[in-house]
Amino acid sequence: MATILILGATSDIGMTIARKFASGKFDILLAARKPEQLQPLESDIHIRYGVNCRSVAFDALQYGSHSEFFSSLQPKPDISICVFGILDDEEQAFNDWHLTERMIHTNYTGGVSILNVIAKYYIARKKGTIIGISSVAGDRGRASKLIYASAKAAFTTYLAGLRNKCFKDQVHVMTVQPGFVYTKMTENLPLPKLITSTPEEVADLIYKAYLKKKNIIYVKWFWRYIMLIIQCIPEFQFKKMKL
Ligand SMILES: NC(=O)c1ccc[n+]([C@@H]2O[C@H](COP(=O)([O-])OP(=O)(O)OC[C@H]3O[C@@H](n4cnc5c(N)ncnc54)[C@H](OP(=O)(O)O)[C@@H]3O)[C@@H](O)[C@H]2O)c1
Repeated sequence: MATILILGATSDIGMTIARKFASGKFDILLAARKPEQLQPLESDIHIRYGVNCRSVAFDALQYGSHSEFFSSLQPKPDISICVFGILDDEEQAFNDWHLTERMIHTNYTGGVSILNVIAKYYIARKKGTIIGISSVAGDRGRASKLIYASAKAAFTTYLAGLRNKCFKDQVHVMTVQPGFVYTKMTENLPLPKLITSTPEEVADLIYKAYLKKKNIIYVKWFWRYIMLIIQCIPEFQFKKMKL
C-alpha cells in the first residue's frame, strides 16, 4: 500500500486531504507540531477506511531536525504533501519583524528545507511525488498581502524549479494554487461565497490531479483566469488600486 506524508496535518486542508487519500486506500502519515491533537483523526481514518494512520512530530521552522525527521520515517512515504502555512495580520507584521520573519520562514524557508531532503531521497530512488500548497496570492504582489504573498511567490517559484530539477529522475512535483478556502486561516475574513472553496473541494481536486500527474492546479479552476487578468493590469494602474 502506498503512503502519503502530510506536513502540517492539523490544518483544515491537511486533515481533509488525509481523509481523501485514505478513502483511496493510501496509508497516512500525519506530521504536525502538535501530533497529539491528531489522535481522533487517526482513529477515525483507521476505523472508517481500514488503512494505517499515525502521527509524528514535525516543526517546519526546526530546519536542523528535518533530515533526521525524514530518516526516522518507516516506511518512507511515496507521496509527500507540504500543507503548512501561516497568514498573520499584514499590518502588524509590517510593524513587527518577528511576525514578518515567521511568515516568510513558515510559508517559504520551512518548505524548502524539508522538501530538499525529501526530493534528494526521491531522486536517488527515481520515484516519488511531491505536492506543495502555495497560493494564488503569490501570483502578484499587493499591499494587503505584502509578506504572505511574497513568501508564497517564492514557494511557487521553488516548486517550479524543483519540478524541472526532478523531471529527469521520474519524480513528480505538483503545485497547488488555492484561491479562498473556508478554514481556520480565513475564519475572520469576509470571503466571497461564489469564489471560495471548501477543504473538501481542495482535497478532491488534489487527489484527482495527483492521479493525472498534473503539474499546476488552481482551486477553483477559474482562479487561473482571475489571476491572469490581475497580472495583465499595467503596473502604473495596479499600484493605485486597493486589492
Ligand atoms: N485558507 C485559504 O484561503 C488558503 C488559500 C490559499 C492557500 N492556502 C494555504 O493552504 C495551506 C493550508 O492552510 P489552511 O487554510 O488549511 O489553514 P490552517 O487550518 O490555519 O492550517 C495551517 C497549518 O499550518 C501549520 N503550521 C503553522 N506553522 C507551522 C510550523 N512551524 N510547523 C508545522 N506546521 C505549522 C498549523 O499547525 P498548528 O496546528 O500547529 O498551528 C496548521 O495546521 C497553507 O499553506 C495556506 O497558506 C490557504
